[in-house]
This record gives sequence, C-alpha cells and structure tokens, in this order.
Amino acid sequence: MGFRDVLAALRAGWWLAVIGLLVGGLAALVVSLLMTPLYTAKTQLFVSTTDSSTTSAVFQGSQFSQERVTSYVQLLQGEELAARVADQLDLAVSPARLAGQVDVTTVPQTVLIDVRVTDASPQRAQQIAEAIGQQFPFLVSELETTTTAESPVRVSVVRGPELPTAPSSPRTVLNVVIGALVAGLVGAAAAIARAHLDRSVKKPEEAAEVAGAPVIGLVLRHPAVEANHVVDRARMSEMAEDYRHLRANLQFLDVDEPPKVIMVSSALPSEGKTTVVVNLALALAEAGRRVTVVEADLRRPRVSRYLGLVGGVGLTNILAGSADVEEVTQYYGEDGLAVIAAGPTPPNPSQLVASTSMAELLEKLRASNDFVLVDSPPILPVADTTGLSVLVDGVLLCVRYGNTRTDQLQQASAMLERVGAKTLGVILNIVPPRAEVASAFGHGYVYDAEASADR
Ligand SMILES: Nc1ncnc2c1ncn2[C@@H]1O[C@H](COP(=O)(O)OP(=O)(O)O)[C@@H](O)[C@H]1O
Ligand SMILES: [Mg+2]
Repeated sequence: MGFRDVLAALRAGWWLAVIGLLVGGLAALVVSLLMTPLYTAKTQLFVSTTDSSTTSAVFQGSQFSQERVTSYVQLLQGEELAARVADQLDLAVSPARLAGQVDVTTVPQTVLIDVRVTDASPQRAQQIAEAIGQQFPFLVSELETTTTAESPVRVSVVRGPELPTAPSSPRTVLNVVIGALVAGLVGAAAAIARAHLDRSVKKPEEAAEVAGAPVIGLVLRHPAVEANHVVDRARMSEMAEDYRHLRANLQFLDVDEPPKVIMVSSALPSEGKTTVVVNLALALAEAGRRVTVVEADLRRPRVSRYLGLVGGVGLTNILAGSADVEEVTQYYGEDGLAVIAAGPTPPNPSQLVASTSMAELLEKLRASNDFVLVDSPPILPVADTTGLSVLVDGVLLCVRYGNTRTDQLQQASAMLERVGAKTLGVILNIVPPRAEVASAFGHGYVYDAEASADR
C-alpha cells in the first residue's frame, strides 16, 4: 500500500475519522462531566538549619538540609502526619486515605518542598494543607531531637495555601481534545485498514490486468438507470453518453476482424449485464446499426422486462424448433431495435443456450445484422455460461465497481480462457459518481493493461 493508496483510502473513508473525532470528543466530555471535580490547595515549605554562626556552618547546614529534604518527602506523604492532621481537623477519614490526597515534590537543588492537597471540597483542601504546614514542623522537631541536642533543623511555611477557585481535575477541555484526537486517529486507521482489506475491483488498470483485456467502458451509477433500466433517446441524459462511448470503443476492439456477435457477461449476478446489453443495443441502433438482442439468460430473463416487451415467446421456442426467428422477434423504439426474448423457461436452460441450434441461430442472425448482443447468465454460479461463450465472437465482461472481488474476476476470466473464449474487453460498471476513477476516466477512454505496461 503506497502513499497514494493511503490518501485514497482516507479520502474514501474520511467519515470514519470524523465519526471517531466526534465520538471520542463526546465520550471524553461525558466522562469529564460525570467525574467529581477535585480541588488542589498548594503550600510550600522551607527547610533550614538553626546553626548559622560561621560560614562553614551555613554551608554544611544547607547541605544537611538538602539531604534531609528527601526523607521529609516521605514523611509528608506518610500516615503519621496524616493521622495528626486528621486529629487536628477532626476529620473522619483513615490516615492512609488522607495521606493519599497529599502529593509532594521538591524543587531540585533547593531546600523547598511543594505540597499539594487534593480534595472534593476546596475549603477542606485548604484546611488540610494548612494543617500540614502546622503539624509537619512539630513532627520534624520531634524526630530530629536527640537526648543530647535539640533539633538542628527548622521547617517553615513560606507560602500558605490559598482557597482553590477552579477545580484541578477533570481538565475537561484537555480531555475532550485528547479524546477526539485519539479516536479520530483510530477512525483514520480504520479507514486505511478497510481499504487494505477491500479485495473488490476498483481500478481500471487492475480490472484490465486481471481480465487480460482492456477496459473499454465505464458506466456510472445513475438513479435514472436504476429506475427505468433504459436510457433511450427521449431521455438523453449524460447517462446515455457512457453507453455511446462504449459503442464508440467497440469499433476499436479488433480492427481486422471486428466482432459482431458479442456476449455480455460477468462473474456474478446483478453486475448490470442486462442493463449494458439493452442500453448498448439502443446506442448502436441510434447510430443506424442493425442490432438484435438475444436474451440468453433463461434463469433471470430481464431484457423484455426492462424494455417493456412480451417475454412469453422467444429464444427457447426457436431452439426447440417450434418457432422461427421472424415469428418471435419483437421491435423496440423508433430505431427498430430487434429483440428475441427468452421464451418459456425450459428444465435445462444452460444446455439449451450452448447447443448446436443456438450456434445455428447466431450464425443466421450474424448474416442479417451489424451487431448481435447476447445477454448471458453470470459465469461463476452457472456452469454452462462458458459453453455459450465459445459460440460468439467475444465476450464483454462487466465488473461491478467495488463489488466484484479480484479473485472472482480472475476466476471468471480463467474459465473463459480455458474453453477458448475471447474476452474482448471489460466494462467497469455501476461506478459511484464520486469515485476517483469516475473523473479520471476521460471520454472515449480505453484502458489497456499491456499498452500501459509498455509505457
Ligand atoms: N449504471 C447503473 N446505475 C444504476 N443502477 C444500475 C446501473 N446498471 C444497472 N443497474 C441496476 O442494477 C440492477 C442489476 O442490473 P442488471 O442489468 O439486471 O444486472 P445483471 O443482468 O448482471 O443481473 C438493476 O436493478 C439495474 O437497474
Ligand atoms: Mg441479467
């Protein structure tokens, strides 16, 4: 996964990062609001020696005090002092708990000690800090006094505690910022992971390489197509343009031996095969070509439904020998597009469409048309679709953007190759208009994997 892929993944999955940002920030806000606000009162103590008669005594004294400071930090956080403070203030808390509310730090290279007392009540925090300032000097002098000498150390309060006005925790703004950032990053990572795990075909160059044929068309997803399936002349939309470009690219496929009988298939159901057949046929008819559409997906015949024609008689009647082509051909629109509907569903649909009579029918249609478009079942789930594929000049493979997996396209194209069918080109189908390829894919574009490899 290169840098560009990461960028593309972020562009496609930016909403995951945004959701992370919002959820993280909101969660941090709720947690912060639910937390009991705590207040911190600060006091500062100073440790000195009482003997300051000579310079060397002062120096030694300050050394002594600095050494003492380390032990005093422990004493300040100890339970002995806490018990005395609780006694003085008449507090009903255990010394251990009270000691836990006290945080002590030293100012390096000095004899200053910072004491912080945190409590849910600002007044109590202040009172405890004050009591520490009163009790600690006593405790120290008790401990430092020996039988022979008086305590050489004196502890004094240099800064008394003030009443805290704002809570020291929770730090709501900081929490919200951190929560939003962390969850936003997790969301971005999820977007990248999602793109990384996505095995669906999304790039024309990938589709071309896997299918071993150029991408000859890109059809955008369009509500109009979804609603009516058919983009005819009356509804000349930008949508019809996609099919016209497909029509234009058809003529470049094989200049020496232009394919006339063309099957449209895909690896899976619902990749837009029938929609392509119908609209491509309309685009060809519009350009004055004689076109016949053969509805050879007997399991899910949709051509007649999309065009609003009768589906009762058609291909299966011809193949069974009970009707002639002319008898069952229907015509659609002002350009006279010829359609042979599926006809009654037989018990053995796949055998029927791969039969010799089918081959004969296609030869007959070839003689009287410029193009014969054969709508077919999907390749992977229906065993004999490949049987039909060898009766035609070539196959156009539809690939539904972001849906068909690379391995499925690979498998379908391998099955076609195994029977000796020719894959003419790939149509990247039902592409969301916002997808990157949608804008990158110029009009009349043909993406050839081999050609690009030469570049
Ligand atoms: N370009 C498109 N934009 C929007 N919807 C589409 C497009 N192409 C096909 N569809 C819709 O997708 C569904 C499946 O299409 P269909 O052509 O029947 O697929 P298949 O023949 O591969 O099973 C249909 O509802 C169709 O209207
Ligand atoms: Mg279909």
